[in-house]
Amino acid sequence: MRYITSDDKNLKQVNKIELIKKLKIWATPYYKPLLLCLFLLIIRSFITIINPIIVQKAVDNYIVPKNFNGLALILCLYISILIVGLILQYTEIVKLETTGQTIIANIKNALFKHILFLDMKFFDKSETGKLVSRIENDTNAMKSLFTYVITHGLGNLILLAGVMVVMLTYNLKLSLILFSLLPLIIILGVILDRFVSPRLINLRKIIAELSGYITEIIQGISIVQIFGQEEKVMKELNEKSLNKLNQEIPVSIMFNTFFNILFFFETLAIIPIIIIGGSLIIEGKMTIGTVILFVTFIRYLLMPIMFLSEQFAELQKGIAAASRVFELFDTNKEIQNIISTSKFGNEFTDIEFRNVWFKYNDDAEWALRDVSFYCSQNEHWAIVGPTGSGKTTIISLLLKFYLPQKGEILINGKNIKDISTYEIRKKIGLVLQDNILFSGNIYDNLVLEQDTHSHDDISNKMKDIDLDSIILKMQDGYNTELQENASNLSSGEMQLISFGRALLKNPSLLVLDEATSNIDPDTEKKIKKAMQTLLKGRTALIVAHRFSTIQNLDKILVLRHGKVIEQGNHKELITKGGFYSELNSLQVN
Ligand SMILES: Nc1ncnc2c1ncn2[C@@H]1O[C@H](COP(=O)(O)OP(=O)(O)OP(=O)(O)O)[C@@H](O)[C@H]1O
Ligand SMILES: [Mg+2]
Repeated sequence: MRYITSDDKNLKQVNKIELIKKLKIWATPYYKPLLLCLFLLIIRSFITIINPIIVQKAVDNYIVPKNFNGLALILCLYISILIVGLILQYTEIVKLETTGQTIIANIKNALFKHILFLDMKFFDKSETGKLVSRIENDTNAMKSLFTYVITHGLGNLILLAGVMVVMLTYNLKLSLILFSLLPLIIILGVILDRFVSPRLINLRKIIAELSGYITEIIQGISIVQIFGQEEKVMKELNEKSLNKLNQEIPVSIMFNTFFNILFFFETLAIIPIIIIGGSLIIEGKMTIGTVILFVTFIRYLLMPIMFLSEQFAELQKGIAAASRVFELFDTNKEIQNIISTSKFGNEFTDIEFRNVWFKYNDDAEWALRDVSFYCSQNEHWAIVGPTGSGKTTIISLLLKFYLPQKGEILINGKNIKDISTYEIRKKIGLVLQDNILFSGNIYDNLVLEQDTHSHDDISNKMKDIDLDSIILKMQDGYNTELQENASNLSSGEMQLISFGRALLKNPSLLVLDEATSNIDPDTEKKIKKAMQTLLKGRTALIVAHRFSTIQNLDKILVLRHGKVIEQGNHKELITKGGFYSELNSLQVN
């Protein structure tokens, strides 16, 4: 199952009615400001139509008869209406932008919230770059759907209708001749759509790929430089840019050609106006003012069409973006967030894996095969095994990031299927293999959600694991800001901070996935000591890579290819002389 697919979809496949229904849900709370904008727009369209009529009256009633006083008056009227129009336009822009941005902010927040709660499986399958682009760019691209499409689309149709009515009342024959241009332009528009639509989708895909590529390169710049890959990267980047250019050029040529044809039509339309209008003037059946009115109105006739074509790309982008955003909203969780019926109290005590089988994908190998073990209250277990043997997988299952395909996982004798994920994670103190620290200072990273600790309390607890002195030695102590990926900390420091974080949570169950990175003997000693502090009075599951840290633990679970091959304490396993003792002697030597 793929989660994000609409990149590859043709826009024609997007169900527009469904889309409109969904957009409506977001727009409904803002119907008042949106209606106000529409109302302002109608008045503005009205003013747009009135102004040429005033000019016509000025020419026919005052300029031709040489009535200067009247001319001055009508000029004042013209200017007043113009100013009112400007004020209305400004009000409308402010309202429209504010409403549009608010709706988008709402969607963005809701989408982020939705994603925050999705299963780990979803994140395994989605590319980070694309996800970020969904949350940020796609929601922004949707703005036009709420602003221009709702108001300007309608507004332009109103203008078009108004202009046509006025033209018809002034001169039926001339109007009909000019209207005959419209079908031609619409056909041109359809051709443009056919040509541009698929290319625009392709172009967006290429742009997304290109920015993804650049992000990847910048993130891995040290590897690029160390392995001297700069030339190769440059070449690939050039190829990708060239590809983008090749798609971009025909699209912009097509757009420009279309607009030039429209301008040509506008100029062309002057000819029948001059010929027919001119002869009617000579015959005394039409006034000069009316001819001027028609010349102005021919622009107004084409303007809405021009506007709609101009917004066309925006609109296409908006529709594509909206369909992607809503698709993400439709992504369901496989692991349902159940509300626990029975309360656990504050303690998690024992853990049991009962014949657990698990694989990450349907077509993947089993990552765990028939894993069983029972860790009773206050026992400390180590999980060891070669890389890829399934150690981290056991932890991920226990945290309910995934559900096993076969078998059961029990905490306090209760199947974790029936315990809410929140309840499980709230009570487990966790130190992950990749120490994840967020941007912010050390203090924020230590307390995370639990700001109930006093500074003294934190400082005392950190002293217990020898972290206090290390933090105080840093530039700003507890206020030291972490750089991206905590790159200003050593991996030992990062690990100790993760320990500190787990300690502050005061969990009854501790789960630790030791980092694989090499650490100097001094830090290793500190980590060992910190671990001892952390383990006191708690049940613990520790994925260990350094055997020196686990010799005193109660039980050791030895994994190989996802199977438990040995269980027992250090002494027992060494005496047995099996796989564990083999691994141990490898490390000791
Ligand atoms: N998110 C994932 N999606 C698909 N396969 C995965 C995923 N995580 C791990 N695997 C696969 O599952 C198997 C077990 O991986 P796991 O991370 O549990 O190993 P590990 O024992 O923790 O190894 P290490 O000592 O390197 O941390 C491996 O074959 C790995 O490739
Ligand atoms: Mg691991």
